[in-house]
Amino acid sequence: MPEMDGYEVCRRLKGDDTTKNIPVIIVTALEDTASRIIGLEAGANDFLTKPVDGTELMVRAKNLLKVKEFEDFLKQYNEKLESEVQERTVQLRQALKELSASNIQLKESSEKIKEGYIDSIRRLTIVSEFKDEDTASHIKRISYYCSLMAKKLGWTDEDSETIFYASPMHDIGKVGIPSDILLKPATLNPEEFALVKTHTSIGGKILNGSVSKFVQTAKRIALTHHERWDGGGYPKGLKGEDIPVEARIMNIADQYDALRSRRPYKPPFDHEKTFKIITEGDVRTMPGHFDPQILQAFKGLHKQFEEIYETHKD
Ligand SMILES: [Fe+2]
Ligand SMILES: [Fe+2]
Repeated sequence: MPEMDGYEVCRRLKGDDTTKNIPVIIVTALEDTASRIIGLEAGANDFLTKPVDGTELMVRAKNLLKVKEFEDFLKQYNEKLESEVQERTVQLRQALKELSASNIQLKESSEKIKEGYIDSIRRLTIVSEFKDEDTASHIKRISYYCSLMAKKLGWTDEDSETIFYASPMHDIGKVGIPSDILLKPATLNPEEFALVKTHTSIGGKILNGSVSKFVQTAKRIALTHHERWDGGGYPKGLKGEDIPVEARIMNIADQYDALRSRRPYKPPFDHEKTFKIITEGDVRTMPGHFDPQILQAFKGLHKQFEEIYETHKD
């Protein structure tokens, strides 16, 4: 072969992407092992020995073409598969984009609902301030004590936020108690005290049946915030863990704040005296009134309670 030998033709065919799949049969002399190796290196698919038998050539060529046909089919199939995958990926990306857009909308509208609840809660608590000696700053401090305590007890941010907004409604039931009893400077007689105690169940009724977790928590607090760990509280005399944990937190927060504040029957106490009464007891308050775990948490947090009181004084 003057210009280019058969091996070079084979090498070039196999080196070009558009022709590399064309099957090549090399014809060599019998026992010519060296030529066969060169042929294999050049990418030949099969060998025939001289003299070439026409039938054998036909059979081998047909077999190679069958193999090629299958390879072509596989190649096309893979290409089709790849383009389908690409198309699906585009669709999936689009769907994800739409999903995240609707998630944002959902988040925005649930934020709005939450804002609406918080606004209503603020208005409700203003109502209870009108009736009682409780002031706006008492209610603000209660929120801070309760969420501080919740965080100390390992609650999630979401649950700590819930008690923050729910706790101010604890005395909402006082709207149902006559003002002259609530504001009476002298000690209440037993009938009057029995009436005051009903502010818990009245609060429970006002807050009953809401779908908002803020109001549901507020209802539990309103109903049970005067229960005591030792069972000596009201309205039901619940004991220990039968009292919802939110109310057990509320109880110590309300107690701390009442001791710090002026009442018709007592002057305001300073932080040290209040801490001593809660942790050691006096004629009215006993450490046994409180959940021991929550009392323990209070001992670790009492300086922050003082800080909250001082920051949000009347
Ligand atoms: Fe109360
Ligand atoms: Fe209170």
